[in-house]
Amino acid sequence: MLKIGILGCGRIGQVHARSIRNLDDARLIAVADAVAPAAEALAAKTGAQVRTSDEIIASHDIDAVVIGTPTDTHYDLIHGAIAAGKAIFCEKPVDMSADRIRDCAKAVGAAGVPFLTGFNRRFDPGFADIEARIREGEIGEVEIVTILSRDPSPPPLSYIRSSGGLFRDMMIHDFDMARFLLAEDPVQVFAVGSALVDPEIGKAGDVDTAAVTLTTASGRICQISNSRRATYGYDQRVEVHGARGLLRAENHLENSVEVATGAGFRRAPAQNFFLERYEAAYLAEMRHFVEAVLSGKSPKPGIEDGLRAQMLADAAAMSLKTGLPVRP
Ligand SMILES: NC(=O)c1ccc[n+]([C@@H]2O[C@H](COP(=O)([O-])OP(=O)(O)OC[C@H]3O[C@@H](n4cnc5c(N)ncnc54)[C@H](O)[C@@H]3O)[C@@H](O)[C@H]2O)c1
Repeated sequence: MLKIGILGCGRIGQVHARSIRNLDDARLIAVADAVAPAAEALAAKTGAQVRTSDEIIASHDIDAVVIGTPTDTHYDLIHGAIAAGKAIFCEKPVDMSADRIRDCAKAVGAAGVPFLTGFNRRFDPGFADIEARIREGEIGEVEIVTILSRDPSPPPLSYIRSSGGLFRDMMIHDFDMARFLLAEDPVQVFAVGSALVDPEIGKAGDVDTAAVTLTTASGRICQISNSRRATYGYDQRVEVHGARGLLRAENHLENSVEVATGAGFRRAPAQNFFLERYEAAYLAEMRHFVEAVLSGKSPKPGIEDGLRAQMLADAAAMSLKTGLPVRP
């Protein structure tokens, strides 16, 4: 039985609490939040105790912490958890700075504590199946990967201003997906981007529409398309073209009904956002973390994967700024 404490009871902390409750070999012991009512509400729902983050990290009856607090708090919490010898499940991005992630990675390595970076999309049943089929050689050598990832609508400007930009906040998931499917690190990143959804996002120094091309040393290519707007719901698709065929994962729609009339074929919009679309992925992700820690294996994606994705995001931001391809 893995005994867990959750730090941060916001959107993602609540998702992880639900996953832990659905697993037989994990128990949620305590939750913490900087805002007391948030922790009390989640504790009331789950039967967990309310403690402070420092208390959870120091608790002898807790083996692992889930860090679901805002990104700028991860660094200190990670170091605290390492010092206390806790297994760590840390939400993405690990930090906004690759240097600080490198520093955390060193400390994780030296202490030998299990660490999972919360790239939940690797655990989506469709995307995981694509990866497994690639490894089994079903489509031969991978040649070109296409990742389409569009949010239903932009977050508030206040969020944009502190998000670190589209590449570090949003496309970070797609950079990890690219590495997952290519099984090779890109050596070149070329990015273009515009503010087409909301000019205020442009004024805040960010883009809301972006495309990135990644190239690996062996010449494999990945194209990523991101938008902060999709009128038809949360658009999440992946396609992998290989020497002997194609693998494709389509959107999850709100229902499976198709209407056909003389005007054509019509289906439901895509599920609206990440909490619904990736519900199964979040549960599978937590199951993997718990099983890995209990069996003494290293969870995957680890902190190195968090670092590599961040390096690609930094390279994309640099490419956008300079108009040139960048080596990550
Ligand atoms: N993997 C995913 O799909 C996914 C989705 C959403 C968010 N995230 C990541 O999860 C993290 C949290 O995002 P969110 O959307 O849940 O934010 P949120 O604002 O909804 O929740 C964060 C909570 O942490 C609390 N908090 C702040 N500092 C704290 C501290 N030191 N100790 C304890 N609690 C503290 C806040 O009061 C808040 O309740 C971010 O790093 C974000 O990038 C990942």
